[in-house]
Amino acid sequence: MLSKLSFLRSIRWKLFLYFMGAMLLAAASIMLLFGPPPPISPPLRQKGEVRAAFLQGGLCVLIISSGAAFLLSLNFLRPLLKMRKVSEKLACGDFSTRIGLNSNDELGDLARAFDSMASRLEENIEGRIRLAGDISHELNSPLAAIRVNIEALLDGVTDIRNEEEREKALSSMLYQTKRISVLVEDLLELAKFEARAVKMSMAPFAASEPVKRVIESVSPTAAKKRITVDHDIRDEELRVLGDKTRITQVMQNLVNNAIQHNSEGVHVRVSVKREAGSVRFSVADDGIGIPAHELENVFKRFHRLDKRAQTPPGSGLGLAIASGIIGAHGSRISVESPGKGTRFFFSLPTV
Ligand SMILES: Nc1ncnc2c1ncn2[C@@H]1O[C@H](COP(=O)(O)OP(=O)(O)OP(=O)(O)O)[C@@H](O)[C@H]1O
Ligand SMILES: [Mg+2]
Repeated sequence: MLSKLSFLRSIRWKLFLYFMGAMLLAAASIMLLFGPPPPISPPLRQKGEVRAAFLQGGLCVLIISSGAAFLLSLNFLRPLLKMRKVSEKLACGDFSTRIGLNSNDELGDLARAFDSMASRLEENIEGRIRLAGDISHELNSPLAAIRVNIEALLDGVTDIRNEEEREKALSSMLYQTKRISVLVEDLLELAKFEARAVKMSMAPFAASEPVKRVIESVSPTAAKKRITVDHDIRDEELRVLGDKTRITQVMQNLVNNAIQHNSEGVHVRVSVKREAGSVRFSVADDGIGIPAHELENVFKRFHRLDKRAQTPPGSGLGLAIASGIIGAHGSRISVESPGKGTRFFFSLPTV
């Protein structure tokens, strides 16, 4: 109906005409329903007076209906005008503003949807600001280390002709540049997971495969730290549906964490167990453990339990990526740490 009045550019005028038309129609119907007007009194019979009476009556109906139409359209439009104001503020970067309409009608629903969109936008922007801060903070320390080395070389503090000193400075710079590369690669990967731009190559595979491969690859590092890594695979035939390479990457990170973040002599066990319709993978150690209040935080990017930071420090992105990978499989990675030791686990569907 309103679209028929497309020659009018303002919805306010459209609503005004719409309400007014409706009221005039209602007035005419009432007059028709309640029969003809009472007989015109003899003195009004003259033609001019009859016309004047009609004009007066018509004018009254017109004034009353236009006043009522104006108020109705204003009331109807108020939330829409508020929405326009709020969207203008959002466009200018003020993400704290909300409509706050509590009515139970469709406009109320629209306002609530708009407010929740504004909240999500605000969280998103805050997240991006935090991320930019985190990245610059993380890049700062390796870059500062490289700068210090270069300055020492330039100022002659490090003697470039002395093979030992030169070697030390260069390998320190190489190590820091590698750290930056790993950080940038991890960040790119995480960004892809957050944008849901990573496609999983889902196929059935033996659940024991990634476990055995990871244990094999970590054994030299584990041996150096006198850490034992073994597995508990009850059923070698168990097959799951997932992206084998990505699941191996997750297992690798979990087992690496158990080795890196614990001191010498701990025991790490990787288990694969059948559950109803799924297979549970878990990596458990009997090491230092994670305090209860940190359990959810370890999946956040750049979150490390700093006080116990190992040297060299990791980038703090491994568990965030692992959580993204398991999330892309439609599952969830969890952690428990009952006082001593830590257990990370997730499930994949069986085939
Ligand atoms: N098995 C574990 N035992 C104790 N602490 C752990 C264990 N696994 C993870 N953590 C803690 O959780 C933090 C986050 O782990 P995450 O794998 O995300 O990052 P990282 O290992 O520090 O760096 P990287 O990006 O190289 O993996 C670690 O810094 C560590 O403090
Ligand atoms: Mg890690």
